[in-house]
Formats: sequence, C-alpha cells, structure tokens
Amino acid sequence: MKSDSISVGIIGFGTVGTGTARILLENSALIRERCGFSVVLKGIADLDITRDRGIRVPDGVLTTDARALLNDPEIDIVVELMGGIHPAKDFMLEAVRNGKHVVTANKALLATEGSVIFAEAERAGVEVGFEASVAGGIPIIKVLREGLVANNIVAVYGIINGTSNYILTKMTEEKVEFSSALEEAQRLGYAEADPTFDIEGIDTAHKLTLIASLAYGIPLSFNAVYKEGITKITARDIEFASELGYKVKLLAITKASNGEVEMRVHPTMVPNEYLISKVDGVFNAVYVEGDAVGSTLYYGRGAGDMPTGSAVVADIVDIGKSIVHGVARRAPVVSPETASRRGIRRMEDIESMYYFRFSALDEPGVLSKISGILGANSISIVSVIQKGRRIGGSVPLVVLTHRARERNVLDALREIDALPVVSDRTLFIRVEGSEE
Ligand code: NDP
Ligand code: HSE
Repeated sequence: MKSDSISVGIIGFGTVGTGTARILLENSALIRERCGFSVVLKGIADLDITRDRGIRVPDGVLTTDARALLNDPEIDIVVELMGGIHPAKDFMLEAVRNGKHVVTANKALLATEGSVIFAEAERAGVEVGFEASVAGGIPIIKVLREGLVANNIVAVYGIINGTSNYILTKMTEEKVEFSSALEEAQRLGYAEADPTFDIEGIDTAHKLTLIASLAYGIPLSFNAVYKEGITKITARDIEFASELGYKVKLLAITKASNGEVEMRVHPTMVPNEYLISKVDGVFNAVYVEGDAVGSTLYYGRGAGDMPTGSAVVADIVDIGKSIVHGVARRAPVVSPETASRRGIRRMEDIESMYYFRFSALDEPGVLSKISGILGANSISIVSVIQKGRRIGGSVPLVVLTHRARERNVLDALREIDALPVVSDRTLFIRVEGSEE
C-alpha cells in the first residue's frame, strides 16, 4: 500500500539525536522531493526535555516517555540514539515486537547483542538500520552490503574511531599531551560516554565486529576481536615512527585467507605514502579491497552530530522506501543459520612487520644479545636506531623488522625483557606496508 509519509520517533536527544532531528526538520523538503514521501518527526524522547539543544522542534514533539513512542501506532520507525546496552536493547526489542522498524547508531549494542536483535527483527519482518554505527557519515555499511556485493572481500583496513585518530593527530602535529587531546575530543562530542571505549580500541572493535560480519558472512564475534588501544603510545614513538617514514594510526583490520578471518584492532605504523596515513583529526577512512573491484577507499567524518545524523537519516529514508513501495526487506546481517563456517585466526598466528623500542643499557654487546635472540626466533632486522648516549644508563634502541610471526615475537620479547641489560618492558607496534 502506498503512502505519502512515514513517521519516526527518536529516543535520545543528545549529540546524534539533535543532528538527526535538525536534518529531518531542515532538509524535509529535499527529502520529499528526492523520495516522493515525507518523513514526519512524530516524537523525540529524552530524560531531560528542558535543556536547550540549539534547535527548535515543533510543539508536542518532546516527551520524557520513551514507551509512548514505542507504543504509538502511528510511528513506523523507532530511532534509538540514547546509547548503552540497557534499556536501549529492551526499547529496540519492544519496538520490533510492536512491528516497528528500528534505526540505531549504537555499535556497542549491536556488536555484543546484535544477534538477538537481528533474529527478533527477522521474525517480526522489520528492518534494522545501522549505517551510523560504523564510521559516522561514511556510508560503509551500504558499500559492504550493496556496492561491493559482487566481490570476495580480500581485506578491510579502517581508521574508524574519530577520538583516537584526533588524539594521535594532535600528538603528532602539535606535540600535545595525550590527556589534553582527549579532553578536547570529549568537549567536541566525539568521545563515547565512557572514553575508555575510544582509547582502548573497544569502540573500534565494536565497529570491526559489524564490518567483518558483513564482509565475510561470519556471526557477530566481538569477543574474538583482538583489542589494543593507544594509551601506551608515547610522543617519542610517534617521533621515531616519523623518522622511519611512518604515521601511527589505530587501525581496525580484517582479512581472510586459508579459511580463516583475522579481526584485530591495534596501533599500527602506516607508511607515509599510503593514503590512509594522511587521514587526520576526527576523520575516518575505510580501505576495502575486493577481488573484482580492487582497492577502494572511503573517507569522511566519523563522528559528530551532523555527519552521524546524515547516516541515520539515510537509513530512515531507505526503510521508508521499503514501507512506501512495499518492497521486500533487505538482507539481514548474518543470521546464525546462514553464517559461514570460517574460523577466526588466533592472534599468535598472524604475521606482520614490527617496530620494537627496547630500553637497553648503553654498553658494548647489548645490540648483539638482542639481535641474537631475534634471529633465534626467525625475526630478521630491517633497521636500527639508537638515540643519545648514556654510559651506564638506558637508552631507547629502536628496531624495525621484516615480516615475522606474532608468536615468535612474543617469545623473543619475553626472553629479551628478562635480560639484565634491558631495564623496561619493550614496546612494540605492528607495521603495515610492503617489504620491497
Ligand atoms: P549523548 O550522550 O550525547 O546522547 C544520548 C541522549 O540519550 C542523552 O540526551 C541522554 O540523556 C538520553 N537518554 C539516556 N537514557 C535515556 C532514556 N532512558 N530515555 C530517553 N533518553 C535517554 O550520546 P550521543 O548522541 O553521542 O550517542 C548516541 C549513540 O550514537 C551512542 O550509541 C553512540 O555510540 C552513537 N554514536 C555517536 C556518535 C557521536 O559522534 N557522538 C557517532 C556515531 C555513533 P542524559 O544526557 O540525560 O543521560
Ligand atoms: N566515539 C566515537 C568516535 C564516535 O570517536 O569515533 C563515533 O562512533
């Protein structure tokens, strides 16, 4: 049955809720012109409806009662923008059971509880839109689900946490301290309610869980993602990386080979000549390589009210088209029944190049002890930098390696860190790039 309007209710009038409402109100004529139907903002629920959010909404739209929206028979799509797991999950399930489509930016919820929500939506015959949950304004979910559907995905590399990219960029360009860069990112509304999620790689892992599931047809597997954040990276490492021709970025990596999928999040040294190394500030970028299309790169703002609102409204309009034209539902994210049987590669089995920063005593024979242990573990050295001279004291000794197996690296570092000439735990960063 054709209708000329659809109604939406938003739960959560914070950063993304405000951006979404602004786009729906300010671009309503454009949306109508492009799609042939209107999107009516029927309600916005928030705990606090007295605070000035910087936009005017029509009278009667604001409510403190989220359930009023979930039970409103006129609302077609419930947009969950409150964040967190509970009660967001309960609200989404209730909306789905009431026959409403749902749209969310909540990657934490989908990565950890998504299989329950997708299964329930499948049963109820409604859609779940989650474009905004990965890479903010970049339509990467659409790319993976639709644009590259004809491809076997070779690899995906993403800078998909604006807060940590913003912090690393500030540390690189302005030499500011980690904590002041984080405060600024929080003030700008980029950081999660709990910023640990951003700086410890958890938010990136939430997003990678969704990407890997779409790219490789595997179930949502957040617990299997290797997660390492940026808190151990010092300004000194960023400087050494720069001397070696690299930028330090928090990368989300997924690739498949020999029937296994890698899913890992960690700081990574990326060669200066790679486009993704030039992605700075709050910007995100996702590199996707497909067997048919080759290399593709998507770039844009990964956080903030309007970019994220842009992705939320894109989902609303997409689902609106299904409602208005009565077309078949789009494919769900992988359901347990259709999930591919690929295994997840253990972190010890991955291969990479490595940067090591040893804290070693500045005395003869130290380098040969360290390189001997590396050699015995099949790790071969590309270059060595030693900075400063402190007879009898310790100095940073930086080593860049050829491709090595992570298990061998961990074994070698255990042995090296136990040497009396090594005064502190060795820091290592995985390095991307070709060996030619
Ligand atoms: P905010 O904290 O800015 O907004 C959340 C809003 O929801 C707040 O106003 C909060 O009220 C309200 N809220 C909390 N509980 C309830 C409830 N029970 N009923 C109604 N309203 C409630 O978060 P963001 O807008 O930044 O993030 C929202 C979601 O979008 C999260 O899942 C986040 O991960 C995701 N996201 C955020 C991006 C960003 O750039 N900020 C980008 C991409 C995704 P109160 O403040 O009173 O608690
Ligand atoms: N905290 C997230 C970030 C918001 O910094 O990227 C966007 O998902």
